[in-house]
Amino acid sequence: MKKKIVVLGCTGSIGTQTLEVAAELGYEVLGLSAGSNIDLLEKQVLEFKPEVVSVRDDKAAEELEKRLKSSATRVLSGEEGAIHVAEMDGADVVVSAIVGIAGLKPTLAAIRKGRTVALANKETLVAAGVLVTREAKESGAVIIPVDSEHSAIFQCLQGNRREQVEKLILTASGGPFRGMTRQELEKVTVEQALAHPNWNMGNKITIDSATLMNKGLEVIEARWLFDLPPEKIQVLVHPQSIVHSAVEYVDGSVIAQLALPDMRLPIQYALTWPDRLANSFSRLDLLRCSQLTFEEPDTDTFPCLRLAFEALAAGGTMPAVMNAANETAVELFLSRRNKFHHIPRIIDTVMSAHSPVENPDLEDIEKADSWARTQALKAAASLNR
Ligand SMILES: NC(=O)c1ccc[n+]([C@@H]2O[C@H](COP(=O)([O-])OP(=O)(O)OC[C@H]3O[C@@H](n4cnc5c(N)ncnc54)[C@H](OP(=O)(O)O)[C@@H]3O)[C@@H](O)[C@H]2O)c1
Repeated sequence: MKKKIVVLGCTGSIGTQTLEVAAELGYEVLGLSAGSNIDLLEKQVLEFKPEVVSVRDDKAAEELEKRLKSSATRVLSGEEGAIHVAEMDGADVVVSAIVGIAGLKPTLAAIRKGRTVALANKETLVAAGVLVTREAKESGAVIIPVDSEHSAIFQCLQGNRREQVEKLILTASGGPFRGMTRQELEKVTVEQALAHPNWNMGNKITIDSATLMNKGLEVIEARWLFDLPPEKIQVLVHPQSIVHSAVEYVDGSVIAQLALPDMRLPIQYALTWPDRLANSFSRLDLLRCSQLTFEEPDTDTFPCLRLAFEALAAGGTMPAVMNAANETAVELFLSRRNKFHHIPRIIDTVMSAHSPVENPDLEDIEKADSWARTQALKAAASLNR
């Protein structure tokens, strides 16, 4: 079946790989949503001829509309534009690949419409896990994970019973700074942090991988996607990024998913699920995997993973606060206004000052998010004094 898809965050790392996969599958692209990269969006419009596209900024949208005068594609702007694209009728799959909390409302809009959502935007589930899963239950929306680890777990769960799961084993590459000491981390640069050993991803998630916050976000994401408590989620560092994650069952069997690190595979599985389709991607040759190693994460040197477990235990608005403080701290680091080792300190300070609201609605989450961003800026400023 040739599906029709919508891609939110179409100009990013996941977005562009999704369009590559969609082109190979011959899928139709109904709608696209981007931030500000209208040069790339223009090319995508000419190639995929979507009905509607949306751009974050009004000015950029006006410019794109001028450039696309002779095309039938309608150009929208702002958050309402992204929501309109997310809600488009006729979409078989909505790919949610906007980075950060900006993806929350458009993703929620698709979920409320009962769509099948291929979810890459992990911040949505981290900040609003209760809300998103409750809304999905009510509307009948299906959430298919795109994150390679969660796709692996999702695949390992197929044909088995959820209540017979003993634990989930989430693997982590360990990032570029695995094995470093706290003192060494004080000197790392933006360029070093952006040089991930195994994956080529957007800047924000690459920094999250270097701090281990990415794994923390994924623990929270896994808690909501698979409805399992945190004590049933184990994180192991696996530097080769071949075993993408695993599920241990009550009988002691461990079922894992292995493949080369290539995001196009989990993206394709999310688009074609429940089918598996042939593709041209490079194949894993087990004869060339002489070593598959596993180790405990070092949460003393990389406290972000511990902070994520703490946020999950505190519940309510705490994960939203942690996420917002992290987004702010990462932006400050990427713009060279703070040091790498300040990231966990900023998050810790903000979390310590927050009393979580239980069972938050969207308004509570947005309030907590914006409070945490202000607090994070203050915490960062005091570290620089
Ligand atoms: N990259 C990976 O391999 C990977 C793997 C697993 C999960 N994820 C998750 O997938 C999400 C996307 O990651 P990425 O690496 O693809 O990020 P990225 O390369 O930075 O791309 C982000 C996308 O979001 C768009 N965007 C940013 N702010 C927006 C806004 N306010 N409204 C609409 N669009 C906006 C960007 O548009 P412009 O570029 O036009 O500004 C771009 O298309 C993240 O949540 C990440 O954690 C990524």
